[in-house]
Amino acid sequence: MERNLTIRYEEFVSAENLAPAEQKLLNRAIEATAGSYAPYSHFNVGAAVELENGEIISSANQENAAYPSGICAERSALFYAHSKFPDIPVVAIAIAAKSNGRLTETPTYPCGACRQVLHESQQRGGKKIKIIIGSAAKVQVIESVGGLLPFAFDNLPQESEDVKNKKG
Ligand code: THU
Repeated sequence: MERNLTIRYEEFVSAENLAPAEQKLLNRAIEATAGSYAPYSHFNVGAAVELENGEIISSANQENAAYPSGICAERSALFYAHSKFPDIPVVAIAIAAKSNGRLTETPTYPCGACRQVLHESQQRGGKKIKIIIGSAAKVQVIESVGGLLPFAFDNLPQESEDVKNKKG
């Protein structure tokens, strides 16, 4: 039997077309690029994570001379958000990147490792995480992590007390 997957996302020519809360989150991601430490790639990524309680945590990529020791903006922001607010679901993440001081022409999509971490953040919180990706030419809003990582690996015990408590 053939089955099809559909990815739901919106596309806008400008951030001005976003809902105000989405626009605000994307601006926070763009501002966060200022904190990027990228002496090797010169590619400055910013991410802003919105929690269900309205809190916004932003961060940027942090590189290292031992390349794999560096970390992407998305994981840096997500891990900090979870450390600080372990019980509050993440509801959205905005991502933007600059190269030579200018917003990239096309969207910078999260790498595979960040998609995997986003998947677990979504599972852990029990709420869809909206992904807002900015660029100079267009802005995309992807409905949930499933649109970025279908058939994801996970190993969270579905009915653990942690998960049950979170669902209420
Ligand atoms: N990077 C991110 O921070 N997020 C992404 O979505 C893609 C890549 C970083 C990793 C590295 O510091 C630089 O961008 C170039 O790959």
